[in-house]
Amino acid sequence: MLFDTHAHYDDDWFDEDRDALLSSMPERGVGLIVNPGITVETSRMAIAMAEQYPHMYAAVGIHPENCHDFVPAHIDELRELARHPKVVAIGEIGLDYYWDTNPPKEFQQEVLRAQMALAQELQLPVIIHDRDAHADTLAIVKEFPEVTGVFHCYSGSVEDARTLVKMGWMLSFNGAATFKNARKAPEVIAEVPLERLMIETDAPYLAPVPHRGKRNDSSLVHLVAEKIAQIKGLTAEEVEKATWDNGKRFFNIP
Ligand code: NI
Repeated sequence: MLFDTHAHYDDDWFDEDRDALLSSMPERGVGLIVNPGITVETSRMAIAMAEQYPHMYAAVGIHPENCHDFVPAHIDELRELARHPKVVAIGEIGLDYYWDTNPPKEFQQEVLRAQMALAQELQLPVIIHDRDAHADTLAIVKEFPEVTGVFHCYSGSVEDARTLVKMGWMLSFNGAATFKNARKAPEVIAEVPLERLMIETDAPYLAPVPHRGKRNDSSLVHLVAEKIAQIKGLTAEEVEKATWDNGKRFFNIP
């Protein structure tokens, strides 16, 4: 079975067929899905879906692109939500310096630190989003040595990947690693030990080749496993089994 460790089924793009899609996943080979929130509201939606589907789990957090209106009271709301037994991580949190319209860098950093502190308090792993903010993200996660997590859609250097592996962190990859212009991701995948890799879709975005540009869903996560297998000289089954075990261990899923 495949474990899609990062998908956003709260997205409007799934409004038409969400239930049909999610119900069909186990019979299509996807046995586990983690849906991270990007706001307090979508974190609540993630928990509602996790209550409805045995194969779904939730993470709660505020994404850097969505933190404009962050106030410290949001941490109390997330703390409350994180009590739910199907919440397995704090996420999706991080830094995103790509879009000019994103909240100011210093403010994003403040929101990230507040959520890292919450993860430390609750002893939960974190799901990190880092876009064009590699140095600052790494510096902030190093401020919290008791917290480990995963860099989702890892886009940093091989050197930073080695540092993260030494710190006990995981890296996860999605359809972006299958794109023709992907250069760094294959190098990193070749370098990082299999037991530190997870697979994801980031659905509805980043559909893997040959579905690039279309709506993505968890049934396509096997294409990411196949890409990793090709890079590492393994079978797709070996990668499927390892990433399933890695995900269950990382998120502490029985
Ligand atoms: Ni995401």
